[in-house]
Amino acid sequence: MRKINIFDTTLRDGEQSAGVNLNFTEKLEIAFQLERLGMDIIEAGFPAASPGDFNSVKEIANRIRNSSVTGLARSVQGDLDAAWEALKDGAEPRIHTFIATSPIHRKYKLKLSKEQVIEQAVNSVKYAAVRFPIVQWSAEDASRTELDYLAEIVEAVINAGAKVINIPDTVGYGTPIEYGNIFKYLREHVPSIDKVDLSTHCHDDLGMATANSLAAVEAGATQVEGTINGIGERAGNVALEEIVVALHTRADYYNTYTGLQLHEIKRTSDLVSKLTGMAVPANKAVVGRNAFAHESGIHQDGVLKEKTTYEIISPDLVGISSNALVLGKHSGRHAFKSRLEELKLDVTDEEMNRLFGLFKELADKKKEMTDEDLIALVLEEKLSG
Ligand code: KIV
Ligand code: ZN
Repeated sequence: MRKINIFDTTLRDGEQSAGVNLNFTEKLEIAFQLERLGMDIIEAGFPAASPGDFNSVKEIANRIRNSSVTGLARSVQGDLDAAWEALKDGAEPRIHTFIATSPIHRKYKLKLSKEQVIEQAVNSVKYAAVRFPIVQWSAEDASRTELDYLAEIVEAVINAGAKVINIPDTVGYGTPIEYGNIFKYLREHVPSIDKVDLSTHCHDDLGMATANSLAAVEAGATQVEGTINGIGERAGNVALEEIVVALHTRADYYNTYTGLQLHEIKRTSDLVSKLTGMAVPANKAVVGRNAFAHESGIHQDGVLKEKTTYEIISPDLVGISSNALVLGKHSGRHAFKSRLEELKLDVTDEEMNRLFGLFKELADKKKEMTDEDLIALVLEEKLSG
């Protein structure tokens, strides 16, 4: 089985979500929880961006001992120097430096030729490698870059000292087969590729971030980058909880494993949601309120007989104490009876027949039937009987 390293950028790309601004204490709290979750790498911020970012990256690097802490830097000396100052006392100082490689970015943003971009990338990696034991290099907008040029620049930065090569789908443009093929192409056309870890970094603009990241894993990526709850620029980054639970649940298919403590997932998700103010949608995979809730009678009956009929992930795997059989108009007699028993409401078979009819009538008018509704129904039935 192949080990997949998980790289969390909740505190950097995640904090770039519109409307999110974490203070120093909040960042530290999230970093400690990410360490508890067993994150391999934590990107704590962008040290050259502001004095506040610099201080929080430094503090996190100094305090976190069980995850490797990194910070982002453009391919310029000032950024690399600021990152070194912030990260040098970390357990395993690691720099994450990047430059855009796509024709659109080269022409309109950087105004540099292909050769100039390679030169700047190589110089920055060489400069960083003198001090940092691990240099990660990213080709921003890699998925819209010419494949032969991408292979050329990747070979050049590996020879300059990069140990991790990240291939971002910066604008969430790739499709799973297309994105996976980039990794396949690099494996086949970059002579030094076996010396490095290959990393994915997907954004969710077209809702394909999870599928794209997993396609890259299938094509040989050994690191996945993303954020908790999928927060991040625009539509966000890939949600790491989805990646690690997919790799775990379908280990038979991916033949990989991660070092994450999956039972810490829900707690981490709740913390990030609380501190960023970004609510998790009820139907969000793995951590949404409804992710383990069953409403229809057929599903509830199945789950009551054998959980695996409709549950491919056990809620306790991710730190949720139990599934929920939500009672509503689609619920069946079996789930209704089971809930009455859990509530210790004794009813005769005759009462049960009448109560189930009344339950269906009321459920038709309400989104969800609460325990209070059930208690009131039984009380009325007992009083009228
Ligand atoms: O999406 C992206 O390209 C990035 C890079 C800076 C790695 O976040
Ligand atoms: Zn990004």
